[in-house]
Amino acid sequence: MKKKAAFFTLGCKVNFCETEALQALFEQAGYKITDFDNQADVYVINTCTVTGSSDHKSRKAIRRARKRSPGAIVIATGCYAQGAPEKIKEMEQADLIVGNREREKLPQILTSLEPGTALDLVSPHPADSRFEMLPPVKRRNRTRGFLKIQEGCDQHCSYCVVPSVRGPLRSLHPEEAVLRAKNLVASGCREIVLTGIHLGFYGAELEDVSLPSLLKDLEEIPNLFRLRLSSLEPSDINAELVDHITGSWIVCPHLHIPLQSGDGEILRLMNRPYEPVEYLYLAKWLKQEIPALALSTDIIVGFPGETEKHHRRSMKLIKDIGFSRLHVFKYSPRPGTPAADYSGQVPNKVKDRRSKEVIELGEEMASAYRRQFLGTVQPVLVEKVVPYSYGEGFTQHYLRVKIDMDIKGLHWRGKLINARLEKEDGSEIKAIRVKKK
Ligand code: 5AD
Repeated sequence: MKKKAAFFTLGCKVNFCETEALQALFEQAGYKITDFDNQADVYVINTCTVTGSSDHKSRKAIRRARKRSPGAIVIATGCYAQGAPEKIKEMEQADLIVGNREREKLPQILTSLEPGTALDLVSPHPADSRFEMLPPVKRRNRTRGFLKIQEGCDQHCSYCVVPSVRGPLRSLHPEEAVLRAKNLVASGCREIVLTGIHLGFYGAELEDVSLPSLLKDLEEIPNLFRLRLSSLEPSDINAELVDHITGSWIVCPHLHIPLQSGDGEILRLMNRPYEPVEYLYLAKWLKQEIPALALSTDIIVGFPGETEKHHRRSMKLIKDIGFSRLHVFKYSPRPGTPAADYSGQVPNKVKDRRSKEVIELGEEMASAYRRQFLGTVQPVLVEKVVPYSYGEGFTQHYLRVKIDMDIKGLHWRGKLINARLEKEDGSEIKAIRVKKK
């Protein structure tokens, strides 16, 4: 009988990509993939360490796996494993700790591993670290797939632990990226989300390769309807990229550009290389160039030294810019980062309240953004069909839409369906299909 492997992922899209690749690796090695809640021979927890709460959830998942199957092999990998292997060792729940490197060899290592060994295979990233080549993902039956094309970050924002656990900048070779994208399309994907740790630096260390040049190559792939970009830094946005988005049929008018704070003093303390007004003008320019642009962002509240005045100024700038969606984080001191030692750490209660305020503002803005589309007809890439009820998917502006279904709708999955957006329903939009003339 085939051995079973179960996976659990915490954190960002890059982690989700990597888990899928690890699943493909285990399948190649003869394992059957099963649910994390089932009995399995091997459990892989792909951990995250971006905040203290990520560490906590990662530890919880490791414990859960061990409890489920006391005799199984439990593997901790990912950013928390890379950054704090000793903490995981202390738990005495994991048999194997591997960070973000050299996971290609995992199945071979497992053949000679005894349960209860607590083997720590974490090693630091060398300066010439290569792009980890996990096998291409097989995406049975999914309409949206993630493709990791870039790894590492050298920005060193004062709060962020990611550069230390993800290592130096490196990129997937464009030929390999196209091959992997074709693979995703062949398995049914119609939308590909390009991801990376510092995506805008894609190609930085390769000759004549950049994000726009890769987009051009990917656009040629038949049956790929959409390309979406995940997070980009403000300084990564240039006229070439914007021209490319406006001139493209398939690159979505959706950008996620982390602002982190709308206050200049806080941005400086964060080691973010722009002024609030620069971001404001960047956003204005983008919205002018890309009509109805979906612009989303990350905000950290309660950074050390953030007073009520800073917080108010930040809220005002967020409002002035106008986002389609906010991801709000409460500042979490990360050991080894400069900001963890800054004076003026903000009490949790204050962080909670500020976070609530920014989340509320984000919800208002998201609703206003959604409402401007009511009455318009938008192509929706249907990801899920609930027979005789509705088809669900996203517009290119990343609005989640449910389309009322008649009998023909049973075949909507993976297709672009024109829908008139009728009304808001919580964070979704209800729509009806309109036929092509
Ligand atoms: N505390 C809170 N949020 C953080 N982020 C990164 N580091 C921290 C931290 N120490 C957030 C940033 C980043 C997102 C991925 O995580 O907003 O953009």
